[in-house]
Amino acid sequence: MASPQTIWYNYDKNLVETIDQRYLPFQNLIVEISTLDEARRAITGMIVRGAPLIGVTAAFGMYLAARNFSGADFLADMNKAADWLKSSRPTAVNLAFAVDEALSVISEKCSIPQNNQQLFAFAETLKQREIEFSNKIGVHGLELIKATSETKKGKPVQILTHCNAGRLATIELGTATAPIYLAHLAGIAVHVWVDETRPRNQGARLTAWELGEAGIPYTIIPDNTGGHLMQHGMVDMVIVGSDRTTLNGDVANKIGTYLKALAAADNGIPFYVALPSTTIDWNLNDGVAEIPIEQRDDSEVSVMEGLLGNQVHQFRIIPEKSPVANYGFDVTPARLVTGLVTERGICKASREGILELFPEKRLKND
Ligand code: MRU
Repeated sequence: MASPQTIWYNYDKNLVETIDQRYLPFQNLIVEISTLDEARRAITGMIVRGAPLIGVTAAFGMYLAARNFSGADFLADMNKAADWLKSSRPTAVNLAFAVDEALSVISEKCSIPQNNQQLFAFAETLKQREIEFSNKIGVHGLELIKATSETKKGKPVQILTHCNAGRLATIELGTATAPIYLAHLAGIAVHVWVDETRPRNQGARLTAWELGEAGIPYTIIPDNTGGHLMQHGMVDMVIVGSDRTTLNGDVANKIGTYLKALAAADNGIPFYVALPSTTIDWNLNDGVAEIPIEQRDDSEVSVMEGLLGNQVHQFRIIPEKSPVANYGFDVTPARLVTGLVTERGICKASREGILELFPEKRLKND
């Protein structure tokens, strides 16, 4: 499905452009990125966000670092650029993978202009790969929705999602939203319960905006509503995205995902995680112990943003100087995950399940 992308290279201006996600849904602004530092700032400042988009932005950041190189030691500078980018956000593994893969396309045997070209080609290839993966996730996930729709004799399939794993986070189509878009296009009735996703409200602000643009019925719910809806038979399935999934199937995703998985398990509701293989951390097993969880600024909790008239304003919503804890992600253990929807198909959230779909990742002793 053709849909507007969230990052692209502007050949007239010779720079990267992206949607500034901080201002949606109130304003749709474009940001220009022409240096490594601007790419990093886009990631830390959440101008771009969502694991696949962060990875692609970092890949373009590596290209821009190479293009603007003016020092003495190209390789040393590129290694520094890689570390600088990798330190921008710790949880989404696509970032580190994209940067390491970018480093691996640099060759000492090539001239700097040739290396620049290779880095640019890599960033574009990674972007295309993410788009293709989202499409395939959509095709596989569609089968789940279709089956539920048949069981419900065409009544709307009620899907709950958390945060934004839509096209804004993934360049096109989305991961969690891809099956929903394809179901809608296929004429299957769906309705999406959109968790607001405090503290930054990616659900209420971004997922709702995307679904609205696509004409897909949705309802925004406060984060703590899901359990109640599940108890009353108002949710048929949960589909969320992931920022990092370990080889044994533990899923890091936006804070609050774990509680949805617990509620789904208690109510016998399938809980699916849609993710491209670029989000699988092949080196980790125990997600709770091993995945680094980003802690973000207190102001995300203490201040809310909204429209007053037609002006965007910020409001403090808690007592002054209140201590705040702001963990960006949590880990849902594999046992609570019904299935992983990947570009190669749907598998159990387990080492065996994942390796059956990705046999090339088997080690000799697997
Ligand atoms: O902190 P963010 O907004 O970058 O968080 C990422 C997310 O949007 C989600 O956790 C998402 O569900 C996975 S990324 C497709």
